[in-house]
Amino acid sequence: MSERGTPGAFHRVDSPANPIVKELRALSMKKERDRTGRFLGEGLKLVRDALLAGFVVEDLIASADSLSEGPVGETAAEVKARGGRILAVSHKVLEKLSHRENPQTVIGVFRKRLAKPEEIGGGGFWIGLDRIRDPGNLGTILRTADAVGAAGIALVGECCDPFSLEAVRASMGSFFHVPLALADETAFLAAARANGARILGTHLSATQDFRGADYSAPVILLMGNERQGLTESLARACDELLLIPMRGKADSLNLAIATGLVSYEAYRRSAVADGK
Ligand SMILES: C[S@@+](CC[C@H](N)C(=O)[O-])C[C@H]1O[C@@H](n2cnc3c(N)ncnc32)[C@H](O)[C@@H]1O
Repeated sequence: MSERGTPGAFHRVDSPANPIVKELRALSMKKERDRTGRFLGEGLKLVRDALLAGFVVEDLIASADSLSEGPVGETAAEVKARGGRILAVSHKVLEKLSHRENPQTVIGVFRKRLAKPEEIGGGGFWIGLDRIRDPGNLGTILRTADAVGAAGIALVGECCDPFSLEAVRASMGSFFHVPLALADETAFLAAARANGARILGTHLSATQDFRGADYSAPVILLMGNERQGLTESLARACDELLLIPMRGKADSLNLAIATGLVSYEAYRRSAVADGK
């Protein structure tokens, strides 16, 4: 049977040597994601989240046996109805694509989508991340941002690629529900000013306790790089600098944990303000 273009509902790809596999594997490299505007994500929930959020699902890749019925079959029908391609693959191909020994039964190929830098700080609670490097931290922060109903995340300066498998995986599907914008420092600050958003930075040399801050929207919580904290210029541009008090001997908190603590304080306050 021909592996490509089998007539009927899906294309069969049985051999890991198939050129389609090479093409899809290349999406684990940032250069190829940038060139094609496409990225990968694993798991049925992730594909469902992408569909729910109106992302374009270009390919749905699944083991041939899972495609015929049940939730995978239904999702495949939806992807196909929206113009996507369904690839029915062997276990060996799934393994090769997911870089895991026990791969998920479903992998999606999605078209990238970003918010415009001018949208940063435009209403609600935004989170700004200065030069975040760790995709695991980024995915965790995306998940937390989704949980608190953040309006978006701004990636400021040279950050890790939000479209990497690791970041998308760590977000547990929240990737698709939180608008992401990329901006350099100048564009970030210009958007914050144009949208009338206050910037609350977090800094180890701050004296103001984060529990006493004013989180009324529009507001941006700005977090520093894992190793260096905020750049001096960003720290100077903040309307306030906040400290998360620490009792023991730790120098600082992990970036994602610190973001979670302050985001939940902002959420608690807005819920109180909304009377919820
Ligand atoms: C791992 S820390 C960076 C540590 C870095 N060595 C420094 O000097 O800033 C990453 C970011 O998390 C936030 N953060 C971590 N612990 C904090 C604390 N106790 N108070 C305020 N912000 C904190 C800040 O935004 C910080 O830039």
